[in-house]
Amino acid sequence: MLYPPLLGQEVYAMNKNIAVIGVGKLGGTLCSALVRRGVVTPDRLVGTTAHEASAQSAQEQYGIRVLNDNTAAVAGADLIILSVKPQGMGKLLQELKPVVSPGQVVLTAAAAITTGFVEERLQEGVPVLRAMPNLPSLIGHGMTVLCPGRRARAEHVALAEEVFGAVGRVAAIDHEELMDAVTGLSGSGPAYGYIIIESLAEGGVKTGLPRSLATTLAAQAILGAAAMVLETGQHPALLKDMVTTPAGTTVDGLMALEEGNIRVALIKAVDAATAKAKEISR
Ligand SMILES: NC(=O)c1ccc[n+]([C@@H]2O[C@H](COP(=O)([O-])OP(=O)(O)OC[C@H]3O[C@@H](n4cnc5c(N)ncnc54)[C@H](OP(=O)(O)O)[C@@H]3O)[C@@H](O)[C@H]2O)c1
Repeated sequence: MLYPPLLGQEVYAMNKNIAVIGVGKLGGTLCSALVRRGVVTPDRLVGTTAHEASAQSAQEQYGIRVLNDNTAAVAGADLIILSVKPQGMGKLLQELKPVVSPGQVVLTAAAAITTGFVEERLQEGVPVLRAMPNLPSLIGHGMTVLCPGRRARAEHVALAEEVFGAVGRVAAIDHEELMDAVTGLSGSGPAYGYIIIESLAEGGVKTGLPRSLATTLAAQAILGAAAMVLETGQHPALLKDMVTTPAGTTVDGLMALEEGNIRVALIKAVDAATAKAKEISR
């Protein structure tokens, strides 16, 4: 399995205690990546789940302590990551309010839950951050955008960057209202990518390629194109021009894409998903 290159970066165990409330898909992925990459030692990590059976299996799977007691888990934690479903956040914050103090940092990873929502429900002075990771985080190729709340400082953002760096790239923004656009582009983006890959593969099948080879070629073409944008820093239009030789094959393919209005369709996809994210977080 491929992970973002860590060459040249020093990975060291941070001397922070981390509690992950909700060791499900995202919480479990974070725990596993943090330990595997040596960001924290397993004894500094504690998780919780809602049920005894899930705690037991997460404990075995990730090799860390997993409890059903949120109060016990957050005692002594420097960073508390909330990774339960958005609809469970209100109740969870009610439970955490008496036991979380301003010396601890709270990070919410729940979609559409604002830092204000969390701040209002905790004791005055607790620093809160919000993170919007996306699905490829589950295999270490994620994109997480962080946003500090009113009381979070640069050092808290740096801590969260280290944590989410274990599952992919990280960016931070100051304006929380942009988190809806982040959701519409980065959160939903992998789904747009899957549609593009699926459709390209269908084209390969139409022109005679076996389906599994067509899917591999489509996925690797998109992965390679994306890696070139990120690694060279070149504008995508310039890279496209490098593939498009005069009177060659690509320009005919591009014409078909333009006829199908692919650009407008993708712009509208991000715009519509952003509008929906705005509506939900309201
Ligand atoms: N998965 C992603 O790629 C992704 C991406 C971006 C954002 N997120 C956000 O991350 C959050 C978690 O998503 P997920 O996909 O990881 O969900 P999930 O797999 O359903 O995990 C939720 C976890 O929370 C536990 N839980 C529920 N209520 C709890 C409570 N009161 N105290 C302690 N643990 C509790 C559940 O325990 P049981 O199993 O025992 O019920 C489960 O382990 C969501 O808010 C989602 O919006 C996820």
